[in-house]
Amino acid sequence: MEQYAIKGGNPLVGEVEIGGAKNAALPIIAASVMTDETVHIDNMPDVRDTNVLLDAMQEIGVLVKREGRHKATINAAQINSLVVDGDNIRKIRASYYFIGALLAKYKNVEVALPGGCDIGCRAIDQHIKGFRALGAEVKIEYGLIKAHATQLKGSHIYMDVVSVGATINVMMAASMAEGKTIIENAAKEPHVVDLANFLNSMGANIKGAGTDVIRIKGVPTLHGTDYAIIPDQIEAGTFMFAAAVTKGDVTVKNVIPKHLESITAKLLEIGCEIEESDDAVRVVAAKPLKSTQVKTLPYPGFPTDMQPQITVALALSGGTSIVTESIFENRFRYVDELTRMGANIKVEGNTAIVDGVEKYTGARINAPDLRAGAALVMAALAAEGTSLIESIHYIERGYEDFHLKLQSLGAQIEKVDSERDYKKFKLKTG
Ligand code: EPZ
Repeated sequence: MEQYAIKGGNPLVGEVEIGGAKNAALPIIAASVMTDETVHIDNMPDVRDTNVLLDAMQEIGVLVKREGRHKATINAAQINSLVVDGDNIRKIRASYYFIGALLAKYKNVEVALPGGCDIGCRAIDQHIKGFRALGAEVKIEYGLIKAHATQLKGSHIYMDVVSVGATINVMMAASMAEGKTIIENAAKEPHVVDLANFLNSMGANIKGAGTDVIRIKGVPTLHGTDYAIIPDQIEAGTFMFAAAVTKGDVTVKNVIPKHLESITAKLLEIGCEIEESDDAVRVVAAKPLKSTQVKTLPYPGFPTDMQPQITVALALSGGTSIVTESIFENRFRYVDELTRMGANIKVEGNTAIVDGVEKYTGARINAPDLRAGAALVMAALAAEGTSLIESIHYIERGYEDFHLKLQSLGAQIEKVDSERDYKKFKLKTG
């Protein structure tokens, strides 16, 4: 299995282009099956999760043509099965977006139950509640979620928890239901808005996405579209905090600064300087980092997908910080790995008490999941000495060319896949 070999100590300096948002691309790719016409998608991230989803849809007869790494042309007129249960489907949670998409168009679908429990037990009760409110019969059997409706009728749905996935899935199903749907307590993430904009570009009638009340007037059919996906808020935030951790000076380009406000605010709080322009944000970490408190919240609060990254920075700051994870129940698993690099963090329930230390030291560490893996890379980049990071396939689920982009910012990082390569890397970097 490939690993990252990293020699720490180099400040990250320079500019990095941010790619399309993974968490917008996944529902948009799934929603492309809601029309028989052709859909062109641009600014798609070339990461494992989106590639797996594109492969999965081809298993049910959807025509997918890749034009370069970031463009795809999709046509679902030849779909030959509404049972979505291939090998690829079970690899990623986002396959459940096919339920909302195919239920909307065909009123009948079966999808393999999503996997993934790395950061907490990911319930789907709100998705099911929404589908049932629209008139679908939903049952779970033989490892499949089965949804069927003679017709879908608009409904007034109040989400018990703010859920990105459930908001997106119900929005897709409601966009082709008869009549009006109101989704209350909806998620407001940029990727929810991007999906709503994508559906509207196909002829849907969705208003209020980005607020906690989304109003939908169902339409009988949707047409093809050309659509470019928004930049990835979390990829941008990861590089911004990597600048902070390595005492660097990094400009993230092709971003929407508005989407990064909670991240920028925390960087300012811990002593970084920020320069913003229309589509770029520069982070300069010239002074020692300061401690602070942070609680993850649904958008526009501080994103849970940035929690490991800010914790890595706070563990190097002066003083004691408090990190509270309010979205998932098991998102501190990386702390044990960080402790092996010298961090001093005590986890009590969904709170981490972080006592800043002088430095990290390099070690052999294991990435437990996507965002924690990226955060451990950041720690290794700041550490004294060399580190080897295992299970980097998690990281490659959501970060395109992660090590190449870091190299372009001056990081000493390489992909290795043997003890011999790692020894060579250590000899070369001293
Ligand atoms: C999306 O997951 C993202 N994934 C996650 O990013 C992100 O962490 C999460 O939203 C929160 O922002 C994708 O978009 C593919 P939720 P999702 O439904 O939709 C509970 C990454 O790193 N809940 O908003 O699964 C749930 O257990 C990934 O890119 C229910 O109780 O998250 C959690 O505690 C990791 N019932 C909370 O809501 C439900 O039916 C938020 O989950 C659904 C969710």
